[in-house]
Amino acid sequence: MKLFSGSSNPRLAEKIAEALNTKLSSIETMIFPDGERRVKLNESVVDEDTVVIQSTNTPVDQNYIELFFIIDALKRSGAKSVTAVIPYLGYQRQDHVFRDGEVVSLDVMIRFLESLKVDKIISYDLHSIKIPELFHIPVIQLSALPLFAERIKSKAFNVLVSDKPDEFFKDTILVSPDMGGLRRIEHMSQMLGDLPWIATVKDRDLQTGDISIKAFEGPLSPSDLPGKRALIVDDMISSGNTVIQSAQLLKDNGVVSCDVFATHAIFSEEAPELLQDSSIDRVYVTTTVFVPKEKRFPKLHRLSVAEPIAKELQKK
Ligand code: R5P
Repeated sequence: MKLFSGSSNPRLAEKIAEALNTKLSSIETMIFPDGERRVKLNESVVDEDTVVIQSTNTPVDQNYIELFFIIDALKRSGAKSVTAVIPYLGYQRQDHVFRDGEVVSLDVMIRFLESLKVDKIISYDLHSIKIPELFHIPVIQLSALPLFAERIKSKAFNVLVSDKPDEFFKDTILVSPDMGGLRRIEHMSQMLGDLPWIATVKDRDLQTGDISIKAFEGPLSPSDLPGKRALIVDDMISSGNTVIQSAQLLKDNGVVSCDVFATHAIFSEEAPELLQDSSIDRVYVTTTVFVPKEKRFPKLHRLSVAEPIAKELQKK
């Protein structure tokens, strides 16, 4: 198997290669003065099973184009198969028409990928349950929830967040920051021995995109919150508004600490500063998206997805 990395997350690609006891294959991307790109493989891939690793986060279109070019280069050069590891799949929140006249951006990207005859996609925590069904090729969806559950159960985490680590779970609850995350939070609750949960309710203005979080729903009620430690679980953090508002509402209702676990660290614009200055205590994300140095902040902790991806690639 030959592994190639795009330019969006080379660190993760290296870690995946390490976990597979191999090295990344050589590839170069040249950028012409007018901004056009050209990809060139520096190794033969004839009759090889090949893998390209590329997240399609910001700059989304550039990262997608590079991915398409690498897939095309692999196919043209005689690869037996091409698996695209796209840990974060860009445009996944635009998976249907919200308002008349809109594009379904994710569907356009899927059609590009399929027309390039990619054989399989491996991705992480897709935004909605129906996304894999939009593809006509196999999509393996991995989840960060086991990584999060492992970290939450670890003694180190319990000592970090509680002065009574042995009693940690007694006063801990899970929170979905919006109603779209109910399946996720139920699943997480099962992984943690039916840990109780509540959801905050998010309203979004479809014109402006502005959100507001002011109410709760779920098995717990606001009167259960005082004195509790909250663990918010979400699929991604972009502007940070969702988890910041959810955490503030929880703290306004008596929660004593609030940690966030989110798979994809999109971190748009001022998100790092806003998260650092918010009432959130710690932010856990995975390495599906590379977070450059200038976007890291003291409350941020990162959990690697290299091993689970490597394990998936080893399956026949
Ligand atoms: C929304 O449905 C998602 O699950 C996330 O909660 C949302 O995309 C996060 O975006 P932001 O950080 O901009 O609020």
